[in-house]
Amino acid sequence: KNYIFFDQIDSTNMYAKSNDLPDGTVVLAENQTKGKGRKGRRWISSKGKGLYFSIVIKRNYPLNDLMKLSLLFPYAVKEAIKDYLENQIKIKWPNDLYINNRKFAGFLIETEIEGNEINRIIAGIGININNEPEEFGDIKDTATSLKIEEGKTFCRKELFCRVLETIEKSLDKFSSLDLTDEIEKDLLWKGENIRILDEGIEGRLIGLDRSGGLKVLTEKGVLTVYSGDISVRK
Ligand code: BTN
Repeated sequence: KNYIFFDQIDSTNMYAKSNDLPDGTVVLAENQTKGKGRKGRRWISSKGKGLYFSIVIKRNYPLNDLMKLSLLFPYAVKEAIKDYLENQIKIKWPNDLYINNRKFAGFLIETEIEGNEINRIIAGIGININNEPEEFGDIKDTATSLKIEEGKTFCRKELFCRVLETIEKSLDKFSSLDLTDEIEKDLLWKGENIRILDEGIEGRLIGLDRSGGLKVLTEKGVLTVYSGDISVRK
């Protein structure tokens, strides 16, 4: 295993992307000054409080597997840490982890694609572990950490080892893993009325299709969406 550790860096994803690192490399930082989230958002990365890391996967996958691959990471993290928690973890499609309706882990999956093949995946993972509410500032109503929800401090090293081990195992059995079934069980807002932001789609969240797309029952029938952010319809 190849680990690259930084006390401080701009973003572990940016580092992993701009360097040609071998398959299986894990880039880990205690603190990120420009932690990146999906859709140009940022990821608050307070020093020593959470786990901020990127995994380089240099293997070939058919492009069709992209959606399922990006679901593998939240699935594996959930499996790795659920036994440490009293609260239930929910997966918010496409790939956020929630406890009590607030987000504690996010995934930024960046891929390199050639033709119909994925050649490289940089899986950026941010997990809020021992973060305090004050760290989240103006997002404190929607962001949380394991410590905030569980009321105790966690050993980051232990969780990190568990998470890496589970991701590795899940990747090894990726082709036989029934990810969509597994994720559907713990899908946030399943059966509720949701809205897909930016797409103007509203309807009842009914589940996932085989490739990991989100099935929504709308006035026009069942639609499957493959990208976007969801919120509960008010
Ligand atoms: C999101 O929820 O929008 C994705 C957040 C991903 C954050 C992680 S922290 C480690 C890695 N490096 C980054 O700059 N981002 C990811």
